Amino acid sequence: MTVSSDNIKIKSIGQRRILYDAALIEHPDETLFCPDRTSSVEKTTAIGRGEARFYQYQGHDLVFKQYLRGGMVASLMGDRYFGINPDHARSFKEFHLLHQLQALKLPAPVPVAASAERTGLFFRAALITLEIPDAETLADKLMTTAMADASWQDVGRCIRQFHNHDVYHADLNARNILLSEGKVYLIDFDKCAFRYLGDSWKTSNLARLKRSFLKFKSQNKIFYFDESDWKQLLKGYSEV
Ligand SMILES: Nc1ncnc2c1ncn2[C@@H]1O[C@H](COP(=O)(O)OP(=O)(O)O)[C@@H](O)[C@H]1O
Ligand SMILES: [Mg+2]
Repeated sequence: MTVSSDNIKIKSIGQRRILYDAALIEHPDETLFCPDRTSSVEKTTAIGRGEARFYQYQGHDLVFKQYLRGGMVASLMGDRYFGINPDHARSFKEFHLLHQLQALKLPAPVPVAASAERTGLFFRAALITLEIPDAETLADKLMTTAMADASWQDVGRCIRQFHNHDVYHADLNARNILLSEGKVYLIDFDKCAFRYLGDSWKTSNLARLKRSFLKFKSQNKIFYFDESDWKQLLKGYSEV
């Protein structure tokens, strides 16, 4: 797929400001942002911090995610964000970063559209990406299946590709790594960015991921992760 900024358009639909890739969706309407109202049946719901919805729109398999705050504020504010300019919405930032990742040919979701809707002093933000087909999170996989050394190395290689392009992942954990058709993807680039100074953030990314594996292991009866798997991941990471 060719990636060009010329295809990125911005428009307003009612109170909603949207950014979209016109090469994928020529004339987006309100229903693009309402998975429940699209003509085809919604497929499944993924459990994350928020809720991702899978649906079809104009022949594309899409994933819709709404930005939710964690913690107490969420119960007061739900999916609305305080802010002034929709163009600074987290959904817009994630869209732009994903677009750059595509240009670098990094294995991350293809951005389709982002929206920021103003309601008084608040924003409601959402992001739509192309579905990575038949994907499973690494966390889910390890709850049922032990992975071969070569697959652990693939995970390490994938992370290294991003680090080689100075892409910092703010929440690298076993749920934000997807496996699909033998390929490894990183997802969920909220609050992520290019980082050019030093290398210590790369070590922190890896340390965070290891903590996530250990947490899943402590919380689940079966979770196929041990020190030798981590060594294989690091082996792949150091090879690229
Ligand atoms: N492009 C995609 N293709 C397939 N599944 C996806 C895609 N984007 C998100 N998901 C699924 O939705 C879940 C939540 O998405 P994510 O971007 O991690 O948001 P958050 O964790 O903030 O809710 C992921 O764990 C994954 O299962
Ligand atoms: Mg996530």
